[in-house]
Amino acid sequence: MTDSVLYTRDGDLGIVTVNNPPVNALSQHVRLGLSECFATAAADDSIATILICAGRTFIAGADISEFDKPMGPPDFLETLAMIEDAAKPVVAAIHGTALGGGLETALCCHFRVAVPSARLGLPEVLLGLLPGAGGTQRLPRLIGPEAALDAITTGTPMNSAAAHAAGVVDAIVDEQGLLEGAKAFAREVVATGQPLTRVRDLNDKVSAVDPAIFVATRKKVAQTKRGFEAPLSCIACVEAACTLPFDEGMARERELFQGLRDSVQSAAQRHIFFAQRAATKVDDMPADTKPQRIERVAVLGAGTMGGGIAMNFANVGIPVIVLETEQALLDKGLGIVRDNYERTAKKGRLSSADVEQRMGLITGTLDYADLADADMVIEAVYENMAIKKEVFAKLDATTKAECILASNTSTLDVDEIASVTSRPDKVIGTHFFSPANVMKLLEIVRGAKTSHETLASTLAVTRKINKVGVVVGVCDGFVGNRMIHRYGSQASYLLEEGCLPHEVDAPIYDLGFAMGPLTMSDLAGLDVGWRIRQGKGLPASLPAGERYCEISDRICEMGRFGQKTGDGFYHYEPGDRNAHRDPSIEQLIVEYAREKGIERRQIPASEVIERLMYALINEGAWILEEGIAQRASDIDVIYVFGYGVPAFLGGPMFYADQVGLDTVYRRVCEFAEADPASWKPAPLLKRLAESGGTFN
Ligand code: 3HC
Ligand code: NAI
Repeated sequence: MTDSVLYTRDGDLGIVTVNNPPVNALSQHVRLGLSECFATAAADDSIATILICAGRTFIAGADISEFDKPMGPPDFLETLAMIEDAAKPVVAAIHGTALGGGLETALCCHFRVAVPSARLGLPEVLLGLLPGAGGTQRLPRLIGPEAALDAITTGTPMNSAAAHAAGVVDAIVDEQGLLEGAKAFAREVVATGQPLTRVRDLNDKVSAVDPAIFVATRKKVAQTKRGFEAPLSCIACVEAACTLPFDEGMARERELFQGLRDSVQSAAQRHIFFAQRAATKVDDMPADTKPQRIERVAVLGAGTMGGGIAMNFANVGIPVIVLETEQALLDKGLGIVRDNYERTAKKGRLSSADVEQRMGLITGTLDYADLADADMVIEAVYENMAIKKEVFAKLDATTKAECILASNTSTLDVDEIASVTSRPDKVIGTHFFSPANVMKLLEIVRGAKTSHETLASTLAVTRKINKVGVVVGVCDGFVGNRMIHRYGSQASYLLEEGCLPHEVDAPIYDLGFAMGPLTMSDLAGLDVGWRIRQGKGLPASLPAGERYCEISDRICEMGRFGQKTGDGFYHYEPGDRNAHRDPSIEQLIVEYAREKGIERRQIPASEVIERLMYALINEGAWILEEGIAQRASDIDVIYVFGYGVPAFLGGPMFYADQVGLDTVYRRVCEFAEADPASWKPAPLLKRLAESGGTFN
């Protein structure tokens, strides 16, 4: 027997305990252990078997790291069949998360009991997979195809109470007494001679299906999961559960599962799963670095970002105090926060009591003295170094010595900001993305003097507020915006050289991005970049030989700032976010090219994709070379969680690996030859291309 699964006796009951930290994944040795332990249980004189897990959770699924390798024996489906076919009752005792293969294992047990805090679900779709161990065939039989479709295509887990109501869980037992509760349940089952439920034999719900649910779900998935293959395969499997006998449905599930497992999309999504977790690890930070407790937070500025940042803390029960310069601005900012919560409540996603509870955690002030208790302050005032320095000097003088001082700056040097304080070790950048209460990404900017403790505390609080944190170094634009600047420049050069706005955007949208670069600029507000360029004195201050495109400036000069003014690169109808082509802008672009003596040409969509993607990738390679990002996968996480790159592309650096770095490098060199001012091939890209290497 393996150490990771143990069989013990507790009087007349057999207990199978899985112990494979941290999440009891179904690694090969666990599958082997399960098969051996259930064989032992079948052969002894126990009256029932309980399947339970040690540590923090029930089985959280297949071992995702094994999908790239051949599956070793035993065959998992045979092990599950052995559990389901057992002649004595098998009871799954669930705590933590029963996910994916874990829930599929539980569905092969005859009964399931769970503690109130447990969560159960089939999240395979989030890894570009489908539940491949009978989940698509058994869940619809147990809870009906409609509810199963929802669970399988979204991957959203159910809490214990919902699982109980749906019939996935037979009984909820005391939080602290899972094993005792399961034992009592098993003995009761035996004593009352309850028949053993084999989910595969339940056919009532699947035979009564209304086929319209498949049409409706396909439509929904096309809107919410554009370009993802896995949700469509999930639907096909549930449909098979409703139209084919169990064994044939299982065969269909197997075939579609294997196709997805071997697909680039799933490899990309698995890459992002591990990349997201790797991103929080800081290579030189000792593992035992203790985070400080962050129980009270302050936010400076109640503008676009400050309000959203404050909401993140209130959402998880952390009191937050917001400081402004004037009462009217404070009232306005907090009013917007309340409106945001009330809009969510109107959609039924919050109760009015929740709204009041969260608003109750957010207080306003005009007085720095009220920040004395804060464990962390996040500054979100105007993007201006002089103002930031003034504010940080005041914060240094008024907050307690151990308070962490964070800046939400999107471009400024965190080290220079830290220099005005007596505690540069406690200064850090926390770069939220807009809208800050919605976007998952947080770039955590590590200054030259930021201490490990400050970094560990910021990482811990990032996790607490359910953000995806990535540690980056100090440079203009950090990782995400520094790269997007190159991408945006290429978008404008493409306009000069021959494309119209929709011809720049469509290829990138078709690749899977949430939107193309010009639609994104319209959404973010064209004035933001315009003001930054004006601040830098551009284009007059442009160094000789540098390239500059004035199209965006000219659009701004017309008072067109994008969606917020109803016009930008595109036209927007009131109340409608759809971008419509605008002949006046198309004419402006053509005339601009003529004025500059640029001969426009037909640019193929493939070149548009190369220019935009390789601009990101080449800058990403520079960023890695300079140590601004720790690893290529960190850049991928930033792009998936902050810039609308679909997880199925795996981020720009993963995408580059798929294209082949020799191809990427060759094209970057060609672009550099044609336009040396805007392309400088990264040495890292060259080295990897020449050695046959990859970023990830
Ligand atoms: N396989 C391999 N490793 C896994 C894993 C899995 N299924 N789930 C988690 N891990 C690893 C993580 O990579 C992490 O490793 P690290 O410490 O080296 O970074 C460690 O376990 C802890 O994970 P988290 O940091 O995510 O821990 P949390 O406590 O925050 O979350 C969890 C726990 C909710 C279980 C979360 O890890 C999770 O969602 N895991 C994935 C669940 C899943 O997708 N299951 C389905 C797998 S596919 C499947 O089952 C196919 C089947 O149908 C055939
Ligand atoms: P904003 O102009 O909407 O809000 C700034 C707020 O700060 C205003 O309400 C202003 O009254 C207040 N303020 C100014 N000086 C102050 C002071 N001394 N003390 C207290 N409050 C003061 O600006 P926004 O967009 O919220 O940006 C704030 C910061 O966040 C900037 O550094 C910006 O670069 C950064 N950022 C902005 C993003 C965006 O998309 N808007 C995204 C990421 C970062």
